[in-house]
Amino acid sequence: MERTLPFRWDPEKRTLWLIDQRQLPQREEWLPVKSAAEAARAIKDMVVRGAPAIGVTAAYGMVLAQMAGEDLDEAERLLADSRPTAVNLFHALERMRPHKGYLEASLREARAIWREVEETELTISKNGARVLKGQVLTHCNTGPIATGGYGTALGAIIEAHRQGRISHVWVDETRPYLQGARLTAWELQKAGVPATLISDNMAGHFMKQGEVDQVIVGVDRMALNGDFANKIGTYSLAVLAHHHGVSFYPALPFSSVDPRLERGADIPIEERSAAEVTSIRGVPIAPAGFPARHPAFDVTPHQLITGIITEKGIIYPPFDEGLRNALAEG
Ligand code: MRU
Repeated sequence: MERTLPFRWDPEKRTLWLIDQRQLPQREEWLPVKSAAEAARAIKDMVVRGAPAIGVTAAYGMVLAQMAGEDLDEAERLLADSRPTAVNLFHALERMRPHKGYLEASLREARAIWREVEETELTISKNGARVLKGQVLTHCNTGPIATGGYGTALGAIIEAHRQGRISHVWVDETRPYLQGARLTAWELQKAGVPATLISDNMAGHFMKQGEVDQVIVGVDRMALNGDFANKIGTYSLAVLAHHHGVSFYPALPFSSVDPRLERGADIPIEERSAAEVTSIRGVPIAPAGFPARHPAFDVTPHQLITGIITEKGIIYPPFDEGLRNALAEG
Protein backbone atom coordinates (compact mmCIF):
# COMPACT_ATOMS: atom_id res chain seq x y z
CA MET A 1 0.00 0.00 0.00
CA GLU A 2 1.22 3.50 -0.82
CA ARG A 3 1.88 5.33 2.45
CA THR A 4 2.91 8.92 3.11
CA LEU A 5 4.80 9.01 6.40
CA PRO A 6 4.87 12.17 8.53
CA PHE A 7 8.67 12.41 8.69
CA ARG A 8 11.94 11.67 6.86
CA TRP A 9 15.30 11.52 8.60
CA ASP A 10 18.21 13.03 6.69
CA PRO A 11 21.44 12.21 8.58
CA GLU A 12 23.71 14.10 6.13
CA LYS A 13 21.83 17.36 6.66
CA ARG A 14 21.14 16.56 10.34
CA THR A 15 17.51 17.32 9.60
CA LEU A 16 14.14 15.77 10.40
CA TRP A 17 11.78 16.66 7.57
CA LEU A 18 8.13 16.91 8.59
CA ILE A 19 5.25 17.03 6.16
CA ASP A 20 3.14 20.00 7.21
CA GLN A 21 -0.13 18.23 8.14
CA ARG A 22 -1.90 21.57 8.48
CA GLN A 23 -1.71 21.99 4.70
CA LEU A 24 -2.94 18.51 3.76
CA PRO A 25 -4.56 17.36 1.58
CA GLN A 26 -4.32 20.46 -0.59
CA ARG A 27 -0.54 20.89 -0.39
CA GLU A 28 2.36 18.55 0.41
CA GLU A 29 4.99 20.79 1.92
CA TRP A 30 8.01 19.45 3.85
CA LEU A 31 9.46 21.58 6.65
CA PRO A 32 13.04 21.14 7.94
CA VAL A 33 13.48 20.64 11.71
CA LYS A 34 17.03 21.04 13.02
CA SER A 35 16.70 21.36 16.80
CA ALA A 36 14.61 20.15 19.74
CA ALA A 37 13.14 23.63 20.03
CA GLU A 38 11.91 23.43 16.42
CA ALA A 39 10.59 19.90 16.97
CA ALA A 40 8.65 21.03 20.07
CA ARG A 41 7.18 23.96 18.15
CA ALA A 42 6.15 21.66 15.25
CA ILE A 43 4.35 19.34 17.71
CA LYS A 44 2.60 22.21 19.49
CA ASP A 45 1.51 23.81 16.20
CA MET A 46 0.16 20.51 14.74
CA VAL A 47 2.67 20.33 11.86
CA VAL A 48 3.02 16.76 13.14
CA ARG A 49 0.25 15.17 15.21
CA GLY A 50 -1.10 11.77 16.20
CA ALA A 51 0.15 10.03 19.35
CA PRO A 52 2.77 7.65 17.87
CA ALA A 53 4.07 10.28 15.40
CA ILE A 54 4.70 12.85 18.12
CA GLY A 55 6.53 10.16 20.15
CA VAL A 56 8.92 9.50 17.25
CA THR A 57 9.32 13.24 16.60
CA ALA A 58 10.22 13.84 20.25
CA ALA A 59 12.82 11.03 20.10
CA TYR A 60 14.47 12.61 17.04
CA GLY A 61 14.12 15.98 18.77
CA MET A 62 16.51 14.70 21.44
CA VAL A 63 18.92 13.52 18.72
CA LEU A 64 18.76 16.95 17.06
CA ALA A 65 19.33 18.67 20.42
CA GLN A 66 22.71 16.92 20.62
CA MET A 67 23.57 17.71 17.02
CA ALA A 68 22.60 21.37 17.49
CA GLY A 69 24.46 21.69 20.82
CA GLU A 70 21.30 22.61 22.79
CA ASP A 71 21.09 22.19 26.56
CA LEU A 72 19.74 18.64 26.79
CA ASP A 73 17.65 19.06 29.94
CA GLU A 74 16.07 22.18 28.50
CA ALA A 75 15.46 20.34 25.20
CA GLU A 76 13.67 17.53 27.04
CA ARG A 77 11.61 20.05 28.99
CA LEU A 78 10.55 21.87 25.81
CA LEU A 79 9.50 18.62 24.15
CA ALA A 80 7.64 17.43 27.27
CA ASP A 81 5.75 20.73 27.39
CA SER A 82 4.66 20.62 23.74
CA ARG A 83 1.44 18.60 24.13
CA PRO A 84 0.20 17.00 27.39
CA THR A 85 -2.25 14.22 26.52
CA ALA A 86 -0.61 11.56 24.30
CA VAL A 87 1.55 9.45 26.59
CA ASN A 88 3.70 8.16 23.68
CA LEU A 89 5.59 11.47 23.81
CA PHE A 90 6.56 10.93 27.47
CA HIS A 91 7.39 7.24 26.92
CA ALA A 92 9.70 8.25 24.04
CA LEU A 93 11.44 10.90 26.18
CA GLU A 94 11.88 8.38 29.00
CA ARG A 95 13.52 5.93 26.60
CA MET A 96 15.85 8.64 25.25
CA ARG A 97 16.93 9.84 28.75
CA PRO A 98 19.67 7.26 29.47
CA HIS A 99 21.28 8.07 26.09
CA LYS A 100 21.54 11.83 26.70
CA GLY A 101 25.00 12.99 25.59
CA TYR A 102 25.65 9.84 23.52
CA LEU A 103 24.74 10.69 19.95
CA GLU A 104 25.11 7.24 18.37
CA ALA A 105 23.11 5.58 21.14
CA SER A 106 20.42 8.30 20.92
CA LEU A 107 20.12 7.79 17.19
CA ARG A 108 19.85 4.01 17.66
CA GLU A 109 17.09 4.46 20.26
CA ALA A 110 15.14 6.93 18.09
CA ARG A 111 15.34 4.48 15.15
CA ALA A 112 14.21 1.65 17.45
CA ILE A 113 11.19 3.67 18.63
CA TRP A 114 10.21 4.33 15.00
CA ARG A 115 10.81 0.67 13.99
CA GLU A 116 8.61 -0.50 16.87
CA VAL A 117 5.81 1.78 15.69
CA GLU A 118 5.95 0.04 12.30
CA GLU A 119 6.13 -3.48 13.75
CA THR A 120 3.38 -3.07 16.34
CA GLU A 121 1.03 -1.44 13.84
CA LEU A 122 1.31 -4.30 11.35
CA THR A 123 0.09 -6.60 14.13
CA ILE A 124 -2.57 -4.15 15.40
CA SER A 125 -3.91 -3.85 11.84
CA LYS A 126 -4.21 -7.64 11.50
CA ASN A 127 -5.75 -8.06 14.96
CA GLY A 128 -8.23 -5.24 14.34
CA ALA A 129 -9.24 -6.57 10.93
CA ARG A 130 -10.53 -9.75 12.63
CA VAL A 131 -13.38 -7.89 14.36
CA LEU A 132 -14.34 -5.49 11.56
CA LYS A 133 -17.03 -6.30 9.04
CA GLY A 134 -19.69 -4.47 7.06
CA GLN A 135 -19.86 -0.74 7.66
CA VAL A 136 -17.35 0.91 9.96
CA LEU A 137 -17.22 4.41 11.39
CA THR A 138 -14.03 6.15 12.51
CA HIS A 139 -13.09 9.49 14.06
CA CYS A 140 -10.04 11.75 13.76
CA ASN A 141 -7.02 10.37 11.92
CA THR A 142 -5.12 7.26 12.91
CA GLY A 143 -3.42 6.29 9.65
CA PRO A 144 0.28 6.25 8.62
CA ILE A 145 0.45 10.06 8.66
CA ALA A 146 -0.53 10.02 12.37
CA THR A 147 2.00 7.40 13.35
CA GLY A 148 4.96 6.86 11.03
CA GLY A 149 3.88 3.23 10.58
CA TYR A 150 0.78 1.57 9.17
CA GLY A 151 -1.76 3.23 11.43
CA THR A 152 -3.79 1.88 14.32
CA ALA A 153 -7.59 2.09 13.85
CA LEU A 154 -7.14 3.16 10.22
CA GLY A 155 -4.51 0.46 9.68
CA ALA A 156 -7.10 -2.10 10.81
CA ILE A 157 -9.71 -0.59 8.49
CA ILE A 158 -7.37 -0.69 5.48
CA GLU A 159 -6.35 -4.28 6.29
CA ALA A 160 -10.01 -5.35 6.76
CA HIS A 161 -10.82 -3.83 3.38
CA ARG A 162 -7.87 -5.68 1.79
CA GLN A 163 -9.32 -8.91 3.20
CA GLY A 164 -12.75 -8.08 1.76
CA ARG A 165 -14.35 -7.86 5.20
CA ILE A 166 -15.72 -4.33 5.11
CA SER A 167 -17.92 -2.70 2.54
CA HIS A 168 -17.85 0.93 3.56
CA VAL A 169 -16.27 3.46 5.95
CA TRP A 170 -17.96 6.48 7.50
CA VAL A 171 -15.42 9.24 8.16
CA ASP A 172 -16.29 11.75 10.90
CA GLU A 173 -14.99 15.15 9.81
CA THR A 174 -13.66 15.71 13.39
CA ARG A 175 -14.31 19.30 14.33
CA PRO A 176 -12.61 21.58 15.02
CA TYR A 177 -9.30 20.53 13.45
CA LEU A 178 -10.87 18.40 10.70
CA GLN A 179 -8.38 15.53 10.86
CA GLY A 180 -11.09 13.22 9.47
CA ALA A 181 -12.07 15.40 6.51
CA ARG A 182 -8.52 16.38 5.64
CA LEU A 183 -6.35 13.39 6.55
CA THR A 184 -8.45 10.23 6.96
CA ALA A 185 -10.38 10.95 3.76
CA TRP A 186 -7.06 11.53 1.95
CA GLU A 187 -5.50 8.31 3.28
CA LEU A 188 -8.58 6.19 2.51
CA GLN A 189 -8.77 7.62 -0.99
CA LYS A 190 -5.13 6.72 -1.59
CA ALA A 191 -5.75 3.22 -0.20
CA GLY A 192 -8.78 2.76 -2.47
CA VAL A 193 -11.20 2.12 0.41
CA PRO A 194 -14.81 3.18 -0.31
CA ALA A 195 -15.69 5.85 2.25
CA THR A 196 -18.08 8.73 2.87
CA LEU A 197 -17.41 11.89 4.83
CA ILE A 198 -20.00 13.01 7.39
CA SER A 199 -20.05 15.87 9.86
CA ASP A 200 -19.69 14.69 13.46
CA ASN A 201 -23.33 15.37 14.33
CA MET A 202 -24.54 12.84 11.69
CA ALA A 203 -23.09 9.75 13.37
CA GLY A 204 -26.17 9.09 15.53
CA HIS A 205 -28.45 9.34 12.51
CA PHE A 206 -26.55 6.70 10.55
CA MET A 207 -26.36 4.39 13.58
CA LYS A 208 -30.13 4.67 14.02
CA GLN A 209 -30.61 3.81 10.34
CA GLY A 210 -28.63 0.59 10.94
CA GLU A 211 -25.82 1.73 8.67
CA VAL A 212 -22.95 1.41 11.16
CA ASP A 213 -21.79 -2.02 12.33
CA GLN A 214 -18.73 -0.99 14.36
CA VAL A 215 -16.90 2.11 15.54
CA ILE A 216 -13.10 1.96 15.71
CA VAL A 217 -10.94 4.83 16.98
CA GLY A 218 -7.38 5.57 18.09
CA VAL A 219 -6.07 6.37 21.57
CA ASP A 220 -3.84 9.10 22.99
CA ARG A 221 -3.59 7.66 26.49
CA MET A 222 -5.25 4.68 28.17
CA ALA A 223 -5.42 4.17 31.94
CA LEU A 224 -5.07 0.74 33.55
CA ASN A 225 -8.85 0.27 33.83
CA GLY A 226 -9.33 0.80 30.07
CA ASP A 227 -10.66 4.39 30.24
CA PHE A 228 -8.96 6.31 27.44
CA ALA A 229 -8.41 9.80 26.05
CA ASN A 230 -8.80 10.34 22.34
CA LYS A 231 -9.82 13.18 20.03
CA ILE A 232 -12.70 15.30 21.29
CA GLY A 233 -15.96 13.71 20.12
CA THR A 234 -14.85 10.12 20.79
CA TYR A 235 -16.85 9.98 24.04
CA SER A 236 -20.05 11.12 22.28
CA LEU A 237 -19.53 8.40 19.67
CA ALA A 238 -19.07 5.77 22.37
CA VAL A 239 -22.33 6.82 24.06
CA LEU A 240 -24.16 6.72 20.73
CA ALA A 241 -22.70 3.33 19.87
CA HIS A 242 -23.75 1.95 23.26
CA HIS A 243 -27.28 3.29 22.82
CA HIS A 244 -27.60 1.69 19.37
CA GLY A 245 -25.94 -1.63 20.21
CA VAL A 246 -23.00 -0.88 17.88
CA SER A 247 -19.62 -2.40 18.88
CA PHE A 248 -16.98 0.13 19.90
CA TYR A 249 -13.24 -0.60 19.70
CA PRO A 250 -10.22 1.55 20.57
CA ALA A 251 -7.02 0.39 18.79
CA LEU A 252 -3.61 1.20 20.26
CA PRO A 253 -0.04 0.08 20.83
CA PHE A 254 0.99 -0.54 24.45
CA SER A 255 3.12 2.61 24.19
CA SER A 256 -0.22 4.48 24.53
CA VAL A 257 -1.02 2.81 27.88
CA ASP A 258 0.00 4.78 30.96
CA PRO A 259 0.84 2.22 33.67
CA ARG A 260 0.90 5.00 36.30
CA LEU A 261 -2.77 5.88 35.89
CA GLU A 262 -5.54 3.79 37.44
CA ARG A 263 -8.39 5.65 35.77
CA GLY A 264 -9.14 8.04 32.93
CA ALA A 265 -10.13 10.96 35.16
CA ASP A 266 -6.40 11.44 35.86
CA ILE A 267 -5.43 11.92 32.18
CA PRO A 268 -4.37 15.53 31.48
CA ILE A 269 -6.56 17.04 28.77
CA GLU A 270 -5.01 19.57 26.42
CA GLU A 271 -6.94 22.84 26.09
CA ARG A 272 -6.13 24.45 22.74
CA SER A 273 -6.81 27.91 21.39
CA ALA A 274 -10.45 28.98 21.12
CA ALA A 275 -9.55 30.49 17.74
CA GLU A 276 -9.41 26.94 16.36
CA VAL A 277 -13.18 26.73 17.10
CA THR A 278 -14.21 30.23 16.06
CA SER A 279 -12.40 30.07 12.72
CA ILE A 280 -11.54 27.46 10.11
CA ARG A 281 -8.07 27.76 8.59
CA GLY A 282 -8.00 31.42 9.50
CA VAL A 283 -11.50 32.23 8.21
CA PRO A 284 -13.76 33.47 11.05
CA ILE A 285 -17.10 31.65 11.45
CA ALA A 286 -18.31 33.25 14.72
CA PRO A 287 -18.85 36.88 15.73
CA ALA A 288 -15.54 38.60 16.54
CA GLY A 289 -14.58 38.11 20.18
CA PHE A 290 -17.22 35.44 20.87
CA PRO A 291 -16.09 33.10 23.67
CA ALA A 292 -15.29 29.50 22.77
CA ARG A 293 -13.65 26.44 24.37
CA HIS A 294 -11.41 23.85 22.79
CA PRO A 295 -10.63 20.79 24.88
CA ALA A 296 -8.68 18.77 22.28
CA PHE A 297 -9.49 15.36 23.82
CA ASP A 298 -12.17 13.65 25.90
CA VAL A 299 -12.14 10.54 28.05
CA THR A 300 -14.26 7.51 27.21
CA PRO A 301 -15.07 5.26 30.19
CA HIS A 302 -14.17 1.58 29.82
CA GLN A 303 -17.80 0.51 30.35
CA LEU A 304 -18.54 1.71 26.80
CA ILE A 305 -15.79 -0.38 25.15
CA THR A 306 -16.48 -3.73 23.45
CA GLY A 307 -12.83 -4.75 23.11
CA ILE A 308 -9.37 -3.16 23.10
CA ILE A 309 -7.32 -3.90 19.99
CA THR A 310 -3.56 -4.07 20.68
CA GLU A 311 -0.41 -5.65 19.24
CA LYS A 312 -0.80 -8.35 21.91
CA GLY A 313 -4.28 -9.31 20.77
CA ILE A 314 -7.78 -8.13 21.57
CA ILE A 315 -8.51 -7.56 25.23
CA TYR A 316 -12.08 -8.11 26.45
CA PRO A 317 -13.54 -7.25 29.88
CA PRO A 318 -12.45 -7.20 32.61
CA PHE A 319 -10.03 -4.72 30.99
CA ASP A 320 -7.96 -3.95 34.10
CA GLU A 321 -7.01 -7.63 34.40
CA GLY A 322 -6.31 -7.98 30.67
CA LEU A 323 -4.21 -4.83 30.47
CA ARG A 324 -2.20 -5.66 33.61
CA ASN A 325 -1.52 -9.21 32.41
CA ALA A 326 -0.41 -8.00 28.97
CA LEU A 327 1.86 -5.36 30.57
CA ALA A 328 3.36 -7.96 32.92
CA GLU A 329 4.23 -10.17 29.90
CA GLY A 330 6.59 -7.37 28.80
O1 MRU B 1 -4.83 16.25 18.05
P1 MRU B 1 -4.34 15.08 17.28
O2 MRU B 1 -4.62 15.17 15.81
O3 MRU B 1 -2.89 14.77 17.57
O4 MRU B 1 -5.19 13.86 17.83
C1 MRU B 1 -4.95 12.57 17.31
C2 MRU B 1 -5.87 11.54 17.85
O5 MRU B 1 -6.72 11.80 18.68
C3 MRU B 1 -5.65 10.14 17.39
O6 MRU B 1 -6.84 9.41 17.43
C4 MRU B 1 -4.63 9.45 18.32
O7 MRU B 1 -3.48 10.24 18.45
C5 MRU B 1 -4.24 8.12 17.83
S1 MRU B 1 -3.19 8.20 16.39
C6 MRU B 1 -2.89 6.59 15.96
